[in-house]
Amino acid sequence: GVVNRSTSVRAHHLLNSEAQVVLNRPQALNALCNALVTELNDALSHFDKSRSIGAIIITGSEKAFAAGADIKEIAELSFSAAYSEDIVALWSHLANNIRKPVIAAVKGYALGGGFELALMADTLYCTSDAMFGLPEIKLGVIPGSGGSQRLTRIVGKSKAMELILTGEYLTGKEAGEWGLAAKVITGGREELLAAAIKTAEKIASYGQIAVLAAKEVVGKSQELPLREGTEYERRLFHGLFGTADQKIGMTAFMGKKRPVWSRI
Ligand code: CAA
Repeated sequence: GVVNRSTSVRAHHLLNSEAQVVLNRPQALNALCNALVTELNDALSHFDKSRSIGAIIITGSEKAFAAGADIKEIAELSFSAAYSEDIVALWSHLANNIRKPVIAAVKGYALGGGFELALMADTLYCTSDAMFGLPEIKLGVIPGSGGSQRLTRIVGKSKAMELILTGEYLTGKEAGEWGLAAKVITGGREELLAAAIKTAEKIASYGQIAVLAAKEVVGKSQELPLREGTEYERRLFHGLFGTADQKIGMTAFMGKKRPVWSRI
């Protein structure tokens, strides 16, 4: 069912245990105005808290995932206002607070903050004709929502520098080659969403504690030195021996049965 009937984001609980959040501001190619980001964050928090949801998909329209910050909304800002209001801080809600797995499904433009939002997702699927770019340099600014950091960690310095300094676009096909996209779909929006839903369903079919822990430890790999990261992983691994799902999963394996995971 439709969870929220707001204007620029449509949030649905899909058939099984997945949720889909559709950015829906077609008149501005899903430019991330304050209202849209607030609605997106509310939808993400709602699904993150919902016991019946195991994975979340964020997608846009045929033409655009999101064309970045709403330039019309920020064009006249002064430094003092940008700094004191901490503009775009709100956008990191996905990266900072959402604990369930999130798949970004990108067709069309993912530019500036739109690309940065997709980079905050846990995995990214796109169509081969998707267009990614950080064109902020053409506006006299730089990426402001983590792009210079997250893109560089994924594709390395040389490629990230090239994209950020030239503002040129990368196609979906190239995003696959560069390891930005886990799957590149040669088809339209329907095929893209079908692939994302299939993966979301698979993730949602596993025990939720293990899924949360898996996301948490992979996330730590982006933050911690190797030694601390592997120790963090090992402690969480140890901790899972205190869960019912570990007993359920391993007993089912030994009995050659399908595990029926606990509900949390
Ligand atoms: N902000 C506000 N409005 C936008 C927008 C944006 N980022 N992107 C598109 N729109 C609006 C256009 O102004 C236009 O509105 P009108 O019909 O009222 O003129 C409508 O959406 C359709 O766009 P176009 O007519 O431009 O469509 P197109 O097919 O010719 O071009 C495009 C598509 C290449 C994506 C082009 O719209 C574009 O370059 N958009 C801006 C992309 C950009 O620079 N993004 C970075 C923003 S800065 C940022 O994100 C900062 C950060 O890091 C946090």
